[in-house]
Amino acid sequence: MLLKKLAITTRTAVLLLANLSLLHSAALAQTIPSLRDTFKKDFGIGTALNNAQINETNPQTTAFIARQFNMATPENIMKSALIHPGWDTYDFEMADKLIAFGKKHDIKINGHTLIWHSQLPAFIRGIHSKDSIQTFFTNHIKTVASRYDGKVFSWDVVNEALNEDGTMRKSVFLQYLGDDFVTEAFRLAQQAAPKTELYYNDYNNEQPKKRAGCIDLIRKIKAAGVRIDGVGIQGHWHVGRIPLKDIEESILQYAALGVKVMFTELDIEVLPRNFQGADVGQRMTANAQSNPYPTALPDSVQTQLAADYEALFKLFLKHKDKITRVTFWGVNDGDSWLNNWPIRGRTSYPLLFDRKDQPKPAFYKVIATVK
Ligand code: XIL
Repeated sequence: MLLKKLAITTRTAVLLLANLSLLHSAALAQTIPSLRDTFKKDFGIGTALNNAQINETNPQTTAFIARQFNMATPENIMKSALIHPGWDTYDFEMADKLIAFGKKHDIKINGHTLIWHSQLPAFIRGIHSKDSIQTFFTNHIKTVASRYDGKVFSWDVVNEALNEDGTMRKSVFLQYLGDDFVTEAFRLAQQAAPKTELYYNDYNNEQPKKRAGCIDLIRKIKAAGVRIDGVGIQGHWHVGRIPLKDIEESILQYAALGVKVMFTELDIEVLPRNFQGADVGQRMTANAQSNPYPTALPDSVQTQLAADYEALFKLFLKHKDKITRVTFWGVNDGDSWLNNWPIRGRTSYPLLFDRKDQPKPAFYKVIATVK
């Protein structure tokens, strides 16, 4: 009897302590400066959100996201494979939850993405006629963009239509619909979503050749009398190798076209890579050197990462009149896609918060860029 009582009391004490430590870390999170508040007068601060975060499975994570970010992009759930799984079937459950999440926490949602060559529904592989691709293209944009008009703040209407040399990527859309598919996507989006900002998004489009291709696309859309409001530079870069000059030149050249500039998927890779960019179709084979920091990031790399983020945010602030949003591709290092791409199961450290949502030196450097 006494033993039983003691066991219950011990359990209560343990639970109490666990709760106290939860409270303690929640209270600590409130003392960390807020990115969204710090850059309030400059540009929006966004993050990518995964299923668990949208489902609010961890209340502490939800509070953390709401305190740090005022814009969000779904990491996967609005991609066509997930939102449009069958020819006549749409699955809006998670996207609707995301809209509710944004409303509740005062976070603007960027829809990602209407037209992309990757993460397409499986049924597309069985389609081999121009008519059917055209029907999918039209139905998809009309249905999804109109459902969320006025509910999402913006859409990445087309994602990654360009090759590195600035020519058009040989996607299923280019193959069946020809060069004009990008303009046509914007035309359809404009009709379906008159209250939503419309963007073109790509990686490496700060690089001169790809940038030139991107500028041509934007000019073409505008020349057709179709609306395009902004261009997204994804910003998947590498530690110690941030192309600051190209980024600055791109901000200036894109802004000169009269479109808003944003950095839409920012992360800085610290792991070995034998190519640059973010072509999701590209992979690397693992070897003994490919996962060098399984337990912790060495100080020297941590310092370089912090310096890189500092330089980037100084540049962003210098051009804050042209930049409307900076979005990180993930909340913390544990969430990052770079743990699984281009090699599965690595330990990467590309963001401002560590695996426990603790700010890294890079976070404080970024905060300190605001005078
Ligand atoms: C990535 C997601 O982060 C992964 O979870 C998914 O497996 C593949 O796609 N460019 C984009 C994003 O526009 O949609 C990609 O997101 C990363 C590269």
